[in-house]
Amino acid sequence: MNTKNILITGGAGFIGSNFINYILSSRDDWNVINIDKLTYAGNLENLKGSEKKKNYSFVKGDITNNELIDYVFKKFSIRYVINFAAESHVDRSILGSEVFYRTNVIGTNVLLEASRRYGIEKFVQISTDEVYGSLGADGLFTEQTPLSPNSPYSSSKAAADMAALSFYHTYGVPVVVTRCSNNYGPLQFPEKLIPLMIINSLNNKKLPVYGDGLNVRDWIYVTDHNKAVELVFENGKTGEVYNIGASREMKNIDIVKLILSKLDKSFNLIEYVKDRPGHDRRYAIDSSKIQNELGWKPEYEFESAIEKTIDWYLNNKNWWERIINGSYKDYYDQQYGKG
Ligand code: NAD
Ligand code: TYD
Repeated sequence: MNTKNILITGGAGFIGSNFINYILSSRDDWNVINIDKLTYAGNLENLKGSEKKKNYSFVKGDITNNELIDYVFKKFSIRYVINFAAESHVDRSILGSEVFYRTNVIGTNVLLEASRRYGIEKFVQISTDEVYGSLGADGLFTEQTPLSPNSPYSSSKAAADMAALSFYHTYGVPVVVTRCSNNYGPLQFPEKLIPLMIINSLNNKKLPVYGDGLNVRDWIYVTDHNKAVELVFENGKTGEVYNIGASREMKNIDIVKLILSKLDKSFNLIEYVKDRPGHDRRYAIDSSKIQNELGWKPEYEFESAIEKTIDWYLNNKNWWERIINGSYKDYYDQQYGKG
C-alpha cells in the first residue's frame, strides 16, 4: 500500500478535527501530520479517537513560522497539504484584524513557499463562500463570481486564495481551492451561530440575533463538506476552484426559532441586538461544478442533521462547559452576560 504523507493544518479546530476523525476512521493509506497552534479555537480533545492511531502525528506550532514549517516538511517527508488553519470568526476579525491577515495570508504563503521548495503533489486550500461578498434576494455564487469580500476575515481568505492560485500559475504548485458555505455539526466552537444558540438556550441565556434576523446563510453538515474535500484532494483538477454547498438556505431567525423549538424553550429568549458592521445579507452556493465533475453530492438532510447536532451538544455538556468556563469565558461573559 502506498502511504501518503499529508500535512493537515488547523486539525484541532472544528472542521479540521472532524476531517481527521473521518479520514482516520475510514482509511489507512493516509499518514496524517496535524499542525495546529492551539489558539482559543484549537482543542486536542476533539481528536480523542484519532490521537492514538499510528498513522497520526501532532505538532504544536504556528503556520507562520518558516523554520518550523521547513522542519516539518523535511522530518515527515510531506507530499501533500490540506490547509484548514485559519482565524475563522467574522466578529473577532471586526474586533481586531491583524492576526487574521497574519495567519490566513502570511501563514498560507509560508505553506505555499515550503510546498514549492519541496515540490509537493497537491495543496488543497480550504476557503469559504464569504470571499464572494454578499448576494441580494436572487442568484447564487458560482466559481466565476468575482471576489468581493466585505469583512477582514473574508478579505484575508480571499487574499489567501489568490496567493494559492498565483503559486499554481507562477511556479506550478499543484493547488486546488475549495469554497464552502456555512458548516454546522459536532465540535464547533460556541461563538458561531448554531452552537452559540444551542448553548445559550440550554443555559436560559438571551439569544442575540443581529439586526433584523433576516440574513441568509446556506448550511452544510460538516461531514458533507469533509467528504467533498476528500474528493477534491483525490480528483480535483489543479488550478481549479470548487464551490461546496448543500443548497439549504435559512434565515438566521428561523434557525434560532428551530433550535428553541427543538429544545422546548420560549421564543422570549430571543433578543434582537445591534447589527454586525458590514453584515453580509445573503450567501447561497451553486455547487454544480463539483457535483458534475467529481460526482459529489450532499448526503445529510438539514432536518435530521440539525437534530443530530443539537443532540451532540446535549450529550457533550462537559466539552462545551470546559470551553465557556475556560479560555472562552471572558469573551463569552462580555458578550452574553454572567447570569
Ligand atoms: P476553527 O476556528 O474552528 O479552527 C481553526 C484551527 O486553526 C484551530 O484549531 C486553530 O488553533 C488553528 N490555527 C489558527 N491559527 C493558526 C496558526 N497560525 N497556525 C496553526 N494553526 C492555527 O475554524 P473552522 O471553522 O474549523 O474552519 C476551518 C477552515 O475552514 C478555515 O480555513 C475556514 O476559513 C474554513 N471554512 C469554515 C467554514 C465554517 O462554517 N466554519 C465555512 C467555510 C470555510
Ligand atoms: P456566524 O456563525 O458567525 O458565521 P458567518 O458570519 O461566517 O456567516 O454567523 C452566522 C449568521 O448568524 C450571520 O448572519 C451572523 C448571525 N449571528 C447572529 O445573528 N448572532 C450571533 O450571535 C452570531 C454569532 C451570528
